[in-house]
Amino acid sequence: MNQALISNIKTQFIAKFQGNPVMIFSPGRINIIGEHTDYNDGFVFPAAVDKGIVAAIEKSDSGISTVYAVDKEEIIEFSVNNLKPYQKGSWQNYILGVVAEIQNNNKTIGNFNIAFGGDIPAGAGMSSSAALENSVVFGLNEIFNLGLSKEEMILISQNAEHHYVGVKCGIMDQYASMFGIKNNALLLDCRTIKSKPFEINFKDHELLLINTNVKHSLSDSAYNDRRSVCESIAGMLQVKALRDATEIDLETIKESITPENYQKALYVIQENDRVIKASKAIESCDLGTLGKLIYASHEGLQHQYKVSCEELDFLVEQAKLNGHVLGARMMGGGFGGCTINLIAKSATESFKKVVSEAYKNKFNKECSIYFVELSDGTGIIA
Ligand code: GLA
Repeated sequence: MNQALISNIKTQFIAKFQGNPVMIFSPGRINIIGEHTDYNDGFVFPAAVDKGIVAAIEKSDSGISTVYAVDKEEIIEFSVNNLKPYQKGSWQNYILGVVAEIQNNNKTIGNFNIAFGGDIPAGAGMSSSAALENSVVFGLNEIFNLGLSKEEMILISQNAEHHYVGVKCGIMDQYASMFGIKNNALLLDCRTIKSKPFEINFKDHELLLINTNVKHSLSDSAYNDRRSVCESIAGMLQVKALRDATEIDLETIKESITPENYQKALYVIQENDRVIKASKAIESCDLGTLGKLIYASHEGLQHQYKVSCEELDFLVEQAKLNGHVLGARMMGGGFGGCTINLIAKSATESFKKVVSEAYKNKFNKECSIYFVELSDGTGIIA
């Protein structure tokens, strides 16, 4: 855990509000495979990481709640009795949305003070937003003794995103951030919202993240559009979600949908299948197969689901040029953020150098490279 971040947030809180806050760490996540399958009731394979959001939180008796976003050096004040969303795209909505959804769950909370900051860049595709939502709901549950279960908390976080942020996200990010287990990835069934942990030890290989440092606009509306295409095709197939459909089922309506939408649904069905295959490959330590599935996932995201971008595709092409990278793909919602790479440890240093230079030459901007450790989910920092 990032001790410097923890002590900075605590210091900032005390400087601003005095008191003795409860300190929360809520992690971001990676996802080994299974992209855009969560809102189709399918499978995903995420893990919480050692980077995320640190929040310091305490009750306030001033009749006003104050939120201090330390990294942005911005402050908002409001009363929990009078909530209004901010303009679309504002960070404030993650917090206000959580408060509103707690109230929608018939729980009463008072006003509070919170300071927060983090060490994953927004837009990296590592779910800084789910980490923030989870830190707020976890902190409020703690200080107001709301008695919410972790299952209830992640639904509150997800609904905050649906209703206040306006992104109809699935449950993967909030789940992984809340339920993460050190050194494990979670094979999550997004229908039952139950997961099976897999210890991750790739021996002489490791996972490397490369951030394009771009986030193309319109990604939120593209996300919601994809979701509604999937739902309408599931409706045509008379199944609850695309998770219940096979490629053969999809064939039966091929002539009634556009070729683009056919490819999108086909992608979801195939990606869901890849997740299960990947979990078996991990179980049998077959990294070659895992790598091929990861590359295939990117192909699908790029050409069928169409949520990649030039920068992500370039990074995956660079990976393919290097025989030591077994698999690489874009991670998260898409249109920017990171690629995840499965690479031989012995080749990491040289690959980092080659890829950084190539990216700089091509786009005239830097990419960032991260290592992450798989960590436990949201919790109180002792
Ligand atoms: C975003 C959403 C998740 C999931 C991914 C794509 O991260 O928040 O629910 O849909 O995109 O897999």
